[in-house]
Amino acid sequence: MNVLIIYYSQTGNTQTIARCIRDGVREAGHSVYVVPLKQVNAAMLEKYDLIGLGSPIWCADPPPVRKFIESLPMQQGKHLFLFTTHGTMPDLYFPVVSRNVIEKGFQIVGMADWYGDCKIQVFRYPYFTTGHPDEIDKESAAAFGREVCRKSQAVRDGLEEPLKQVPPTNINPMQACAVINMLNGNTSPHCSLKQDRSKCLHEKGCSICQDNCPMGYIDLDQGKFGRHGDSCGDGHGCTYCEMLCPAGAIYAFEPTFEEEAKKDAARGFKMFQMILAEAEEAGRFRQLMPPEAFEEYVPFYQTTGHPRIRPLSCKEDNE
Ligand SMILES: Cc1cc2nc3c(=O)[nH]c(=O)nc-3n(C[C@H](O)[C@H](O)[C@H](O)COP(=O)(O)O)c2cc1C
Repeated sequence: MNVLIIYYSQTGNTQTIARCIRDGVREAGHSVYVVPLKQVNAAMLEKYDLIGLGSPIWCADPPPVRKFIESLPMQQGKHLFLFTTHGTMPDLYFPVVSRNVIEKGFQIVGMADWYGDCKIQVFRYPYFTTGHPDEIDKESAAAFGREVCRKSQAVRDGLEEPLKQVPPTNINPMQACAVINMLNGNTSPHCSLKQDRSKCLHEKGCSICQDNCPMGYIDLDQGKFGRHGDSCGDGHGCTYCEMLCPAGAIYAFEPTFEEEAKKDAARGFKMFQMILAEAEEAGRFRQLMPPEAFEEYVPFYQTTGHPRIRPLSCKEDNE
């Protein structure tokens, strides 16, 4: 079988899982190619028998993933598996994304999710999920790779059925608020951004924010920054450009990171801890950080200077 694994990833969790699934597919004796979403075009899918599509959870699917699915021609039952990494609230992803791919004519032969570290400026760091994906997660991702190949073959042989039912939505109150906020187009929970031109290194040849904005919102030559042309902030609150900027030329306003982090510290993240405690009790989550790690509130933006993260290298995807 020829397998294509497509992933979208900003901080590396989904990329790590994609590579482990790749290893499982290889162990099962199949040929596999791993590729970041921005290098994929619809025609590429035709050469493969089984497609994997992975991304982080941003409420549900990040807009580039949604746009990619929308851009595809109708599929005639091509086999597909979905995988995702997330922080505390994964519940909306599969109900939304599985519906979208089934409507596109794919047959789903597997879905799996893993916890991942959260590097969000105003969130505490380490976060409750820091340490994931760990070795156990990686082994289970490889096992998932083997399983989706087996399942795809069994469906092809008429021995098993693909997934027909979209999973039910089981949404917690905090995520419900985030969704309402997003649908109303309100300010991002991860802050809104502006660009300080006096610090920008574009004249020295830097265009890292423009090259990596998942929405194509930045045109430095035209002086256009963000969704609104002079600022960025929607319900998703991607903030990738702020993370990548080497000069700190992109900053949060109304609220600032300081203001938002203070609010988060005051809320104490109790809801997140409750959700994770429930997940731990149900055997879906393992907290890897010792409790002492959470005694002090240090927001992620204070743990690092600029750039906060670097773009991912894809060199090892197909090694
Ligand atoms: C804009 C944004 C929105 C996010 N929304 C959610 C969410 O709704 N639920 C959740 O569990 N995690 C959420 N996260 C956390 C990421 O899903 C998590 O850190 C993921 O593992 C990142 O994957 P990556 O390293 O492949 O980019 C969000 C992260 C970002 C940057």
